[in-house]
Amino acid sequence: MRVNNKVALVTGGGSGIGEAICMRLAEEGAKVVVADINEANAKLVANAIGAAAVAIHQDVTSEQRWQEVVAEIMERFGRLDILVNNAGIAIVGSVEDASLADWQATQNVNLDAVFLGTREVLKVMKNSGGSIINISSIEGIIGEPGLAAYNASKGGVRIFTKSAALHCAAEGYPIRVNSVHPGFIATAMVTDAVGSMSEADGVAFQERIMANIPMGHMGEPLDIANGVLFLASEESRYMTGSELVIDGGYIAR
Ligand SMILES: NC(=O)c1ccc[n+]([C@@H]2O[C@H](COP(=O)([O-])OP(=O)(O)OC[C@H]3O[C@@H](n4cnc5c(N)ncnc54)[C@H](O)[C@@H]3O)[C@@H](O)[C@H]2O)c1
Repeated sequence: MRVNNKVALVTGGGSGIGEAICMRLAEEGAKVVVADINEANAKLVANAIGAAAVAIHQDVTSEQRWQEVVAEIMERFGRLDILVNNAGIAIVGSVEDASLADWQATQNVNLDAVFLGTREVLKVMKNSGGSIINISSIEGIIGEPGLAAYNASKGGVRIFTKSAALHCAAEGYPIRVNSVHPGFIATAMVTDAVGSMSEADGVAFQERIMANIPMGHMGEPLDIANGVLFLASEESRYMTGSELVIDGGYIAR
């Protein structure tokens, strides 16, 4: 029971990595708010967890919805201890072929929403304390030619996390802010990205990825959820502004 009785909000909790995070936090005693723009998926996850979870509809790009969601959680649970900014999208495109619309949509979901969520929860966490975990990517540390907008958004999450962490420490808020950097994890995001490429490009991309993973295989959502659980728990009490890379060794060389 590593996060017993803590209240956690997980964005993008309806599938993939977010789903595994919700499950893992609940297994270790947390009450989990499963938030997703896909409410049906959020409900499936909350139902699978049972009484310890509730599902809500949230589009993380809405500033107003962030205010409502935090207010609803405070009304229902009286506290909010853990925020996992996990919702994200990936649109394939290099610097030459990405459209401005795709670029802006990516920044809106992957980066602007992390700022909005972090700013909103600070209002309630600054007195009671908390842990904010931002899901970046190895793509926030290294470049990938076909993911220009995604690279930029995840790099932004990485350094924004450090700024927020330092602010909280300077203000004396008992809040830690850390980022997690998954490598290639078998979820719909990877399948969809490959599916949006031509068949030849998709095959070449997958072959290159697999050849470059030192451990020889993609990760599972649970591998990321375990890292998030650690950052959410008091076991990581001396960590803030850190980046936790979970990638089978991908960026070690
Ligand atoms: N899968 C990977 O290999 C990988 C690697 C590194 C980082 N990540 C990051 O992990 C996070 C989760 O990705 P995943 O692989 O589980 O993908 P996924 O597509 O399975 O899940 C993403 C979830 O976010 C939700 N979402 C999308 N836009 C939203 C919005 N505007 N508001 C609320 N929810 C929204 C989706 O409905 C979905 O449930 C993302 O931030 C992603 O960038 C994934």
